[in-house]
Amino acid sequence: MTDQVPAPRPPSLFTWEFAADPYPAYAWLREHSPVHRTALPSGVEAWLVTRYADARQALADSRLSKNPVHHSEGAHAKGKVGIPGERSADLMTHLLNIDPPDHTRLRRLVSKAFTPRRVAEFAPRVQELTDRLIDGFAARGEADLIHEFAFPLPIYAICDLLGVPPEDQDDFRDWAGMMIRHERGPRGGVARSVKRMRAYLAELIHRKRAALGDDLISGLIRASDHGEHLTENEAAAMAFILLFAGFETTVNLIGNGTYALLRHPVQRHRLQDALRRGDGDLLATGVEELLRYDGPVELATWRFATEPLTIGGQAIGAGDPVLVVLAAADRDPQRFAGPDTLDLARSDNPHLGFGHGIHYCLGAPLARLEAQTALSTLFTRIPDLQLAANPDELRWRGGLIMRGLRTLPVRFTRE
Ligand code: HEM
Repeated sequence: MTDQVPAPRPPSLFTWEFAADPYPAYAWLREHSPVHRTALPSGVEAWLVTRYADARQALADSRLSKNPVHHSEGAHAKGKVGIPGERSADLMTHLLNIDPPDHTRLRRLVSKAFTPRRVAEFAPRVQELTDRLIDGFAARGEADLIHEFAFPLPIYAICDLLGVPPEDQDDFRDWAGMMIRHERGPRGGVARSVKRMRAYLAELIHRKRAALGDDLISGLIRASDHGEHLTENEAAAMAFILLFAGFETTVNLIGNGTYALLRHPVQRHRLQDALRRGDGDLLATGVEELLRYDGPVELATWRFATEPLTIGGQAIGAGDPVLVVLAAADRDPQRFAGPDTLDLARSDNPHLGFGHGIHYCLGAPLARLEAQTALSTLFTRIPDLQLAANPDELRWRGGLIMRGLRTLPVRFTRE
């Protein structure tokens, strides 16, 4: 008999326990198998990149393509590696599925319309929406903050910004709800919602073209670069990805962020004191820390090796899918001091919550605006907000890319 230590076994991934708290498993992977090959729930095999240095490098590596045609399973992978429901070829050609030079051209065009200035001018509207939603439950003394607050705020905000008329916004709320719950349903669920949304956007773009306004869709139609414009299909795919990329992510930042504050009373009171004094600095660093500590995007979207390469010493074959685990990288002790501690004042915080490189989140200024407005208004108007459920009873959505709560029950003194 030898007293050999058994080889460490990888933790189970993608179970309910993992969905509730993936961080111990990620710590294990960073330590023992930092570039880890695993079968995903869909059956697709992929590499998970979990260390910060490797993750940052992989996000900026041009040998990792975003275009699913490079996947070794080729056509078989169709529908398994994209956004649920986005099968139609015209919707697939959006920023998150393409590489330079097409990516460079489209990103330049959209950046002309979706400017930081447009976002800054939108701030009063975000404040109004936030107050209106809080008005809806403030007198009740209890609420589910996902359904009544975190979920509707980003969808109404992005609809307003794009120029979807108010009377149509509840349809978007329904389609988005279907997509976020990944419902299949008897009549097609997600796929059907995407289809309806796509048809609606095509029609809206058509109408806007006839009468341009100040909204973002009109801005997309108007944007040109060296005489080039977006085609109608490209504009529809762009509007779709703005909705898709900007919706569930922001729901989860507001949801996960509120939850983290409720679980860390010292940090929460620090923030409330700062807000009372009119000091916005802690709010700004705090939202960045909430993105790092429990960010909405657990895994960056798909990448595929266009040639054999190595990441962190691990050989990756041509055609292999690579998933960069932002949530694991952002808790890497090699990069962050006390990575498992929530510190709203953390200043050395180059987190990867919005990605890195040419696909860095286009909507980061809007996401920051929404999260800062939502959290500061909520914790100022409802100072004694409390969790109304045992944390063990809360359910997390088990999607692959995103991390977020299904419900967040709270109680408080009525306003
Ligand atoms: C890209 C995170 C909100 C639009 C990304 C990426 C991440 C991310 C990680 C890179 C994905 C990759 O490299 O595979 C987030 C988070 C958000 C948020 C955490 C909220 C808290 C938004 C909003 C919008 C938006 C509000 C727009 C309205 C986009 C777009 C891309 C993108 C268009 C693709 C950019 C490109 O490929 O060039 N986001 N996002 N995001 N995001 Fe966001």
